[in-house]
Amino acid sequence: MKAIRNYVLFVLSAALTFGQAQPAAKPQMADAVYKDIKLLKGLTVDQFLDTMGFFSASTNMNCIDCHGLPAAGDQKHYADDTKLKTKARMMIGMMQAINKQNFAGKSIVTCYTCHRGGEDPKSTPSLAVQYSEPLDDPDEIEIRTAADEAPSPDQLFDKYIQALGGAQRLAAVTSIVAKGTYVGFDTETEKRMVDIYLKAPGVRSQVVHYRAGDGITTYDGSAAWISQPDKPVPFIELTGGQIEGAKIDATAFFPAGLRKLRSAWKIGMTTIDGRDVWAAVGTGPEPPVKLFFDKNSGLLVRLARYIQLPIGRVPVHVDFDDYREIPGAGVKMPFKWTPTWVDGQSTTALTEVQANVSIDAAKFARPTATKK
Ligand code: HEC
Ligand code: HEC
Repeated sequence: MKAIRNYVLFVLSAALTFGQAQPAAKPQMADAVYKDIKLLKGLTVDQFLDTMGFFSASTNMNCIDCHGLPAAGDQKHYADDTKLKTKARMMIGMMQAINKQNFAGKSIVTCYTCHRGGEDPKSTPSLAVQYSEPLDDPDEIEIRTAADEAPSPDQLFDKYIQALGGAQRLAAVTSIVAKGTYVGFDTETEKRMVDIYLKAPGVRSQVVHYRAGDGITTYDGSAAWISQPDKPVPFIELTGGQIEGAKIDATAFFPAGLRKLRSAWKIGMTTIDGRDVWAAVGTGPEPPVKLFFDKNSGLLVRLARYIQLPIGRVPVHVDFDDYREIPGAGVKMPFKWTPTWVDGQSTTALTEVQANVSIDAAKFARPTATKK
């Protein structure tokens, strides 16, 4: 949480510096946008910022801990050398050497392997941890092998489809337009209005009406963009793992396609917030997609996905809640969802949902940077 709060400081201050930049035609490379990148070469801006989030999540240090207070006031100070930034550079070198010498250069040992969400990695095993209950985190817990009564993947996905209203009715919903509220670290926990546009089998656009202007996140079926008035870089063309992530998030609203996201599914069980859930772990291709279904209702309560970066795997969770009927459509959808990622969290709650209204194609086109 510490890390996230300062990310907000970062994006707000950065808006002043980069607010007027023109949208780029190609994904921007971080080495070109930032001034002093010595080791993390060859990353796009979205990958680079995810890597910074990965550092924060791994060490529980926020952006400003490493980069120094001046960076909170002026984005250019992110290029300053600080004691901890220098140390972190040394750590990057050490980590790369370990992986090169022992793991054929794969990112097996990461910042998190040693740091486990703390500044000072521990050397002495903890009896408290050894004897405590396992953590309630699906990325952490070994998904317990399913018992005899475990459903097959077919049964699990079928139950979900039934719980939503059945395959036939779901197939009849080809577009959804919704309004609601959005609250996140990037709104400083203030509620803002949001518009959501969805089209089968998985095209999506979201417009958050920030104080500073409209923040638009769009996935058009093959490309994805973020245009946001108060981001360090106000227009980002997403790449690789981020595009795949946008596809998964969009598909979640047209459940017929969920299963096809991965070729093989294994079923296990675990708990989320004390609730018993079936976990479907999909592989092929990597990284995996994990879907968690409430054992009783059959509804999807969480999806976990990952972005593979050179530095390691960045986890993203989306929690779904408040399933209600879409008026007139005879099917349910989550009216509330909360994505959590390494440098932020937000909650969208819908107040108005309409199925099968035509949506102007421009809504799914590459957005232009907006500013009030
Ligand atoms: C554990 C320390 C650490 C944390 C935490 C951290 N960074 Fe960094 N950051 C670095 C290092 C090291 C570099 C330089 C990487 C290199 O030289 O390749 C860097 C570079 C940067 C740069 C490039 C600056 C320039 O102009 O060259 C930006 C921007 C940045 N970080 C933003 C962030 C943000 C935003 C966060 C919080 C989400 C963050 N950092 C968290 C260590 C950290
Ligand atoms: C092989 C284990 C290991 C890995 C991998 C590792 N670290 Fe460390 N790190 C340590 C240890 C041990 C210390 C404490 C060293 C000390 O006290 O001098 C430390 C200290 C640090 C510190 C200084 C903390 C402070 O308060 O002085 C930073 C910053 C840091 N690591 C960042 C990172 C980042 C970022 C990564 C991933 C690129 C990383 N580390 C990967 C073991 C590791």
